[in-house]
Amino acid sequence: MTRIVVAGAGYVGLVTGVCLAEVGHKVTCVDFVEDKIDLLKKGVSPIYEPDLNELIRKNINADKLSFTTDYKNAYCDADVIFIGVGTPENEDGSANLNFVYTVARQIAETITRDCLIVIKSTVPIGTNDKVEIFIKNYLKHDVHVEVASNPEFLAQGTAVRDTLSASRIVIGAESEHAKQVLQDIYAPFKQPILSMNRRSAEMVKYASNDFLALKISFINDIANLCETVGANIEEVTTGMSYDARIGNKFLNPGIGYGGSCFPKDTKALHWLSEEEGYVLRTVKAAIEVNEKQKFKLMKKARKDFASFQGLKVAVLGLTFKPGTDDLREAPSIPNVRLLVNEGAQVYAYDPVGMENFKKIYPTQVVYESTAEKALEDADLCFIFTEWEEIKTMDMKVFKDKMKTPFVYDGRNCFALAEAEEAGIYYQSIGRPE
Ligand code: UGA
Repeated sequence: MTRIVVAGAGYVGLVTGVCLAEVGHKVTCVDFVEDKIDLLKKGVSPIYEPDLNELIRKNINADKLSFTTDYKNAYCDADVIFIGVGTPENEDGSANLNFVYTVARQIAETITRDCLIVIKSTVPIGTNDKVEIFIKNYLKHDVHVEVASNPEFLAQGTAVRDTLSASRIVIGAESEHAKQVLQDIYAPFKQPILSMNRRSAEMVKYASNDFLALKISFINDIANLCETVGANIEEVTTGMSYDARIGNKFLNPGIGYGGSCFPKDTKALHWLSEEEGYVLRTVKAAIEVNEKQKFKLMKKARKDFASFQGLKVAVLGLTFKPGTDDLREAPSIPNVRLLVNEGAQVYAYDPVGMENFKKIYPTQVVYESTAEKALEDADLCFIFTEWEEIKTMDMKVFKDKMKTPFVYDGRNCFALAEAEEAGIYYQSIGRPE
């Protein structure tokens, strides 16, 4: 049996490890954060992700999944090591590869057998080549190592489902051996496996994410124009989506894309292109549109309120999208900062994101246990995330609970007719007022 180790127990690493165990492999997940590993050993996922807890427990009990901080023991006799650590954004927009190289160094210094190292983290084009040279430089034993690229396409909130039934598995390998090892590992998944060179595989990941980000920024741009020319973005996207070449996915306008991937991956590819002496103008435009879009609701509210000083502001939804407790690059963060700095009293509600939000704003925001409580006596309300429980609220609640029902919805949660019927002043994105 192939001994598989996964380095990094974050979104990518953990879900990969758990799903590989689920399809029958024996997997050890390594992370340097002791608290995280302690939780995982008890069968508790440190991240909120549907089905993950159940699968962790099931596979620990079946003796297919284990967790450790002892990387030396884990790496030393592994056949395949997946690297699934974070590659956050540097100040200048480039990708920070410190975690990747830290793990690469640890691997080089501890492995005692031939080993295939597989980079799942999103890394700039050419990184696989560099990591292979780096590891070979630091090897302590006379073993054969090879690095292969295998980018991850899971989305938060649907991570397990996306991995177990992925649209495709991309393998970037420079040898038949590496390609075969990965094909064998992924055989139980029964999904299309696309093999290519390492640089193409690295590019598939960036190009896919940047294309999706571009699609969102494009539709936000069109939505903004719809507002000024009197068109309705919902009718427009419906009309567009019947063209199968366009489709109906990722055409929802809003207050911009957030999360740990699109903002970082658009900036990283743009940064890389400039390094190469080529400017990716389309991606640059997507980034610029997104930066402005974050404050779209604030701009609307400023037309109605001279100042937010002393106002009670209800904020519904904090996470960057529904189905996750992740706040990375969530538009709610800079918007709440603005409100707090202007002296507003912010009352927030999110079904799962409040604990993480408290780490950013421990005292400046009042956290309520329900949306209704947050709306009590509020002067105005912002909706930043389209949680199902928010979308299905009866709009009369806004009228009944708020002092003045001024609702600014950044995710088009409600029908315009419903707002009108409930007697609410309702502003959304790309739709007539
Ligand atoms: C994204 C990609 O969808 C995954 O395919 C990819 O594997 C992942 O990044 C990654 O690189 O790891 P994720 O960031 O979890 O996944 O979330 P998405 O569902 O793509 O949403 C990203 C942002 O775009 C959210 O803020 C969401 O609100 C926004 N969005 C999405 C829109 O504003 N409009 C849409 O139509 C769709």
